[in-house]
Parts: sequence; C-alpha cells; structure tokens
Amino acid sequence: MSIKQFDVIVIGGGPGGQIAAIRAAQLGFNTACVDEWKNGQGGPAPGGTCTNVGCIPSKALLQSSEHYEHAGKHFAAHGINVGELSLDLAKMLGRKNAVVKQNNDGILYLFKKNKISFFHGRASFVRALEGGYELKVSGTADEQLVGKHVIVATGSNARALPGAAFDEEQILSNDGALRIPAVPKKLGLIGAGVIGLEMGSVWRRLGAEVTVLEALPAFLGAVDAQIAKEAQKAFAKQGLKVELGVKIGAVASGKKGVSIAYSDAKGQAQTLEVDKLIVSIGRVPNTTGLNPEAVGLKLDERGAVVVDDDCKTNLPGVWAIGDVVRGPMLAHKAEEEGVAVAERIAGQHGHVNFNTIPWVIYTSPEIAWVGQTEQQLAAAGRAYKAGSFPFMANGRARAMGDTTGMVKVVADAKTDEILGVHIVGPLASELIAEAVVAMEFKASSEDIARICHAHPSLSEATKEAALAVDKRALNF
Ligand code: FAD
Ligand code: NAI
Repeated sequence: MSIKQFDVIVIGGGPGGQIAAIRAAQLGFNTACVDEWKNGQGGPAPGGTCTNVGCIPSKALLQSSEHYEHAGKHFAAHGINVGELSLDLAKMLGRKNAVVKQNNDGILYLFKKNKISFFHGRASFVRALEGGYELKVSGTADEQLVGKHVIVATGSNARALPGAAFDEEQILSNDGALRIPAVPKKLGLIGAGVIGLEMGSVWRRLGAEVTVLEALPAFLGAVDAQIAKEAQKAFAKQGLKVELGVKIGAVASGKKGVSIAYSDAKGQAQTLEVDKLIVSIGRVPNTTGLNPEAVGLKLDERGAVVVDDDCKTNLPGVWAIGDVVRGPMLAHKAEEEGVAVAERIAGQHGHVNFNTIPWVIYTSPEIAWVGQTEQQLAAAGRAYKAGSFPFMANGRARAMGDTTGMVKVVADAKTDEILGVHIVGPLASELIAEAVVAMEFKASSEDIARICHAHPSLSEATKEAALAVDKRALNF
C-alpha cells in the first residue's frame, strides 16, 4: 500500500469537516477528507449527523408534518376544503430519505469539483512524524495517509440515559426518531430541549399523543424568559404535553412498549407508559476509533478535544472543530470554525464571533435568537432597554394567518448597541439573519428602526421592535 501525502487531512465529513476541506482546497492546499458514514447500501454518505440524522432529515419531516397539520386544521379557514385527510407515512419518510441523498450526493460533487480526495472509512492516528502525522483509514479500501495538518471534525453522538441503551426500536436516539415506521399511539420523550421539541412536534402533528419529560423546572431555560413563555403557551395549545422538574427513574422496555418511572415536580412517584421513547438529553463528543492516544491528542473529561480559541489542539498542526470541541453543537458553528481553521493554516486571520451565533428551534412557532437575553444582562448588571412587537399587529402575519409570537430587541441603555434579538413566531429562522448582520456591524436599535423594510413583511416586526426600544413603535 503506497502512502498518500496531503497538506491537509480532514477527519469527518459533517458540516464542519466538509466545509473545512472545501475552504482548504480553495486556498490551494492538497486536501483529503475521510468520512465513515454509510448509506443503506454501505456506500459513502458524507454530511455527518447534520445531513444523515440531524438538521436535514428533521427539517424535511418538520415541513411534511406541518403541511399535514395545515391541510387538516388550517386550510379550511382559507376556504380550502380537502375532504378526508390521510397519511402516507412511508412516502413521507421516503421523501425525507431522498432529500438526505440529494445532500450526500451534493457533497460528493463538491469534493470532486474542488479536487478533494475523499476516502470512505474510519481514520485513526498512527504516529507523529517530522512535520506531520500518519493516519490509517479502514473502510471501503484501507489506506495509509500522511498530512502536514490534520483537522479533527468527528462530531458527536446522542447521550443515552444510564440503564436505557438505545435499541432504535423502542428506545430511540435522533436516528430512530427520524424513521419510526408507523405513527405511535403514545410517544414519550425525555428532554425538552431542541430535539425534544422538534421531534415531539413532528410526531404530534402526525397523530401521536406526545409527552415530554424535562428535568429542569424552567421551560427552555436558555431562551429569553418572555419568548420561552410564549412558546410554551403555543405548544400547550397544540397538545404537546411537557412536564417540567421531573426526575427519571427506571426505564423498562418490553414487547408492549416502554415504561418510565419518574418523580414529578412535587416529588410524587409517577409512571409513563408509551409505545416508543425518544431520549434527547444532549449529545457527547465523538472520538471513537480516532486513537488520539497514539499521538497524545488531549481530550477533556467529557471526551471533547481540547482546543484554544483558534481551534488549535495541544499538538502542532492538529486542529479540531465542530461538535467534538467546546461551544454550541450547531452545524453553522462547525462550518464557521472549519473556514477559520483552513484560513489560519494558510496564514490568514480566520475568525469566529461566538457572540453572534444564531440559534433556531424549528417548531411552529419557530424560536430564534442571537446575543444575550434580558435575564443574562440583568444577572451581569448591565443596563439595557428592550422593545417588543407582536406578530398580531403585523399585516403580513395576519395575511398568512400566523400571528403567534413577537420580536424583541434588547439594546444597551446608554449606547443603544443591540445586545440581543429574540423571536418566537413565523419564519423566525429567516428573520434572525437581519439581527445577526446588525450585531456583527455593531448596529444600534435606532439603525434598524431607521432602515426601510418592505411592506407587508414579517421583517417589519423587527423594525417595529427596534422602534419600541425607544418607545415609538408606529403600529402598536
Ligand atoms: P458531524 O455532523 O457529527 O459529522 C462528523 C462526521 O465524522 C460523521 O460523518 C462521522 O461519521 C465522521 N467520523 C467520526 N469519526 C470518524 C473517524 N474516525 N473517521 C472517519 N470519519 C469519522 N444544528 C443546526 O445548526 N441546525 C439544525 O437544525 C440542527 N438540527 C439537528 C437535528 C438533530 C436531530 C440533531 C441530532 C442535530 C441537529 N443539529 C442541528 C446539530 C448538528 O447536526 C451538529 O451540530 C453538526 O452536525 C456538527 O457537525 P460536525 O461536522 O462537527 O459533526
Ligand atoms: P439539548 O441540550 O437541547 O436538550 C436536552 C434537554 O434534556 C435539556 O432541556 C436538559 O435539561 C434535559 N435533560 C438532560 N438530562 C435529563 C434527564 N436525565 N432527564 C430529563 N431531562 C434531561 O439537547 P438535545 O435536544 O438532545 O439536542 C442536542 C443538541 O443538538 C442541541 O443542544 C443542539 O446543539 C443540537 N440540535 C440543534 C437543533 C437546531 O439547531 N434546530 C435541532 C436539534 C438538535
């Protein structure tokens, strides 16, 4: 077997690794990317968690299930009668799989276009060399690679509950949650975080009776409290049952389903019986099979690769990005780190601004935010002013028939610099981009208030919320 030499080897082809490889190739480096994900036929399926069992398939099912709910519950108000509604779940799941495949194929195309050598298999460190690292790839074909720089982008895995391993039949991680073959009558979820709410929404819309058990006493504790409260109200109205402040006990899985013993917020013993259980209690960094010991790559107590602000590890020429390092586990964060690392390898000044990474929860209403919440600012003793505007008073939202929620702008009391924007409502995922741009440019709330926004558009709610910071909203 001949040794193949590269300037940059990226381990992992998720959003972090794939984008790091593309940027490195654009910058003129001889680049390789190794990814082990397999499709149903055992072939390559680059794109990582995001493409295969995360962002993309969950958004496909959120879209399909939202159409189903609209057809069943909301079309009539628009004067559209659909008669008896029926669900072809196999077709819905098939469409989701096709969307995933389009993305897998798109990444393979981009690798080819950018002349990136792609290896399908598992990469592990063998040894450090003078000015580089030797890696072994075990997979479709075994390979020996040497890279001057190595970027570790090996992602994360779902965290299991102790004593309740994932079997993907009855106790499901995000993987099984995206391919339940028949709508369960009763579905339980543990963890009312991002996955709990998104996947809970999908299966509730398709007809399951959904109960979400959450350990924390507050609903969406990281979200601005007013926004979280509004969202909680909307989910309760839709029939998504969320129990807060629970302590999970024994989980028993049998032929008939799953039984979860827990104590409720009052300390009373309870049992939840469900047909399927999704466990969504966070994710853990993944370095399985990477063999970090061979080169002395440092991991922390959670198993994450230790990096500095620039994604440099303890080893010269070894970098790490995305879910396998500190920081939010988001695809766009992984991508930004990938670009920044490739540019740093090229001697440029790649940069990721952690203060302006947006978050989106793709429920209905959507929840999106960037920057700090009122609660964080108050705790830090920072003087701020806030303005909000309800979608109920927005013409486009009324025309759409989707008036739940609001936009809130939080700005520094003295300088008026925008410190955070928080949205719950229609297309919050798209509206948040304006706020991110504004914060990147250190805009004041007055800047947004004075910018002309198209009418009628949802973005006018952002302008009005900015006006409301100065108590001069025009339409409310
Ligand atoms: P990953 O995407 O996990 O990719 C890592 C890749 O490395 C995998 O393909 C893996 O097979 C490969 N690999 C690992 N070890 C090796 C090895 N030794 N050799 C070769 N290959 C290896 N984020 C968002 O921003 N928006 C969303 O809407 C969103 N939705 C999500 C929905 C769900 C259900 C889940 C679970 C996650 C979601 N996320 C979302 C989070 C997002 O998926 C992750 O933050 C993102 O995938 C991290 O990218 P990454 O490149 O670091 O790792
Ligand atoms: P999460 O961190 O969002 O939520 C986990 C929830 O489980 C928390 O509310 C936590 O308090 C609760 N919890 C933890 N242990 C518990 C226990 N023993 N009993 C009951 N509740 C418990 O994690 P989640 O939903 O698993 O998602 C993982 C990550 O994937 C997210 O944090 C996010 O980074 C990413 N993701 C992003 C999405 C997006 O951007 N739209 C969508 C889905 C996932």
